[in-house]
Amino acid sequence: MTAFRSSVPCRQRKYIISAVLIIGCFGFFLVVQQTANSAEDYEKEYPLQLENEVLKICNENNIDYRKSLYTSALYDTTDEPSTTQRNHHHHQQQQELQMQLPLSNGTEPMIYFVTPTYPRREQIPEIIRLGQTLMHVPRLHWIVADDTDSCSDTLNRHIRKFGIPYTQIASPMPELYRARKNAPRGVANRRAALNWIRQNQKKAGVLYFGDDDNTFDLKLFSEIRTTRKVSMFPVGLIGDYGISTPIVRNGRVEAFFDSWPAKRKWPVDMAGFAVSLGYLALSPNATMPFKAGYEEDEFLKSIGLKMDDIEPKAHNCTEILVWHTQTKSSKSPTVRISMDRQKLDKLNLGALLHQLESMGVNHISNTVGTIAQAIVNGNVKPLSVWFS
Ligand code: UGA
Ligand code: MN
Repeated sequence: MTAFRSSVPCRQRKYIISAVLIIGCFGFFLVVQQTANSAEDYEKEYPLQLENEVLKICNENNIDYRKSLYTSALYDTTDEPSTTQRNHHHHQQQQELQMQLPLSNGTEPMIYFVTPTYPRREQIPEIIRLGQTLMHVPRLHWIVADDTDSCSDTLNRHIRKFGIPYTQIASPMPELYRARKNAPRGVANRRAALNWIRQNQKKAGVLYFGDDDNTFDLKLFSEIRTTRKVSMFPVGLIGDYGISTPIVRNGRVEAFFDSWPAKRKWPVDMAGFAVSLGYLALSPNATMPFKAGYEEDEFLKSIGLKMDDIEPKAHNCTEILVWHTQTKSSKSPTVRISMDRQKLDKLNLGALLHQLESMGVNHISNTVGTIAQAIVNGNVKPLSVWFS
C-alpha cells in the first residue's frame, strides 16, 4: 500500500480511489441486487398462494352406485362343501379375498383419492385402469383434477361409469410453468383439489395423492384409511434403488431410503404417504409449490410434519402396496383416409375413429399419414372397396 502511494502522483491517485470506490459500490449494489433478486425469484418461482388459481368444478357425484358390491353376498359361505380339503381351500381363498375387499359398514373414514391427470392419448386408458381398481374400494371419493382450462366430456363419461362418488375438476398448470423443461407436473391440479377439500369443509377422512399412472394394491386402501396424522409406506419402481421407503426400527420411522436425497427433509414419493384431513385442517395454509422434485417435501413441511407424527404402514414398511409404474408415451399417428368420412359411419370404423380422435389417440387426414387399408383373406385392399 505504501509503495503504491509513493509511486502514484496525487491527481492520478484521486482518480484511482474514485474508480475503486465506484467499482466497489457497483459491486456491492450487484451483490445486494442479486440477493434481493434471488429472494424475489424464489417467491416468484414457488409462490405458495397464486392469484387467479383455477378451480372449475366440472361434474360431481356423491352417490355410491357400487354399494351392492360390498354386500355380504360376495362372501356367501353356503356353497356345498365336497371334501374337507376343498372346503379348507375355499375358506382360505375367501379369507384372502376378504382381506383385499373389506366389507363396508358405511362408517369407515372416507378416502379422498386425488388424481392429477392431463389430456394426452393415454389419458382415458389410464383412467379406465385406475377406475377399475378404485371400483373395489368402499367409502372413497375420487377427485379427478384435469390439467385443462375446460371440462372434458370424454373424461367425465369415463369416470361416471364406475359408479364411484367423484368430483371432476379443471385446473390448468399456469402457462409460466408449462413452458419450462422441468415443469412441475400435477401441481396446479393437486392444489385445486386441496382447495376443494377446504372449501367443502372436509375435516374427516384421509387424503391420498394417487397419480393416474401408478399401480395400487387393494390392501393399500385399508392401510391408509386409519391414518391418524400422516402415514408412510414403500413405493416400488422409484429411482436407482427401485424403491423409496421410510426406514423403520422398532415400529418407528427413523430415516428414509431414497436414491435422490436432494437435500430434502422428507425424501418420499407422492404415492408414499397419506394425511388425515383432521391433521391437514390444523394447517390452513398447507399447499404444494410449483417446484419440480420438491412437491412432496414442501407439502409435508407446509403441514408442519414431525418425525413422531409418522405412522409406518404396510406391515412396518415391509410390503409394497403401490408402484410408480410409468406409461410409455408415444406420438399420435395420422391415418390417411381419402374418402368421405360419412361413408365410414356405415361401418363400425366410423364410430371407432370418432372415439379415438376425441381421445387424441390418432388423427385422420385425407391427404397425409399412413394409408388406411382393409385386409380381406390376407389381401390388402383400399378401404374404398367396401363402398364400390
Ligand atoms: C413423479 C411423481 O410420482 C409425481 O407425484 C410428481 O408430481 C412428479 O414426479 C413431479 O415431481 O413432477 P412422474 O411419473 O415422473 O411422477 O410424472 P407424471 O406421471 O408424468 O406426472 C405426475 C402426475 O401429474 C400424473 O398423475 C399426471 O397425469 C399429472 N400431470 C402430468 C399433469 O397433470 N400435467 C402434466 O403436464 C403432466
Ligand atoms: Mn407417473
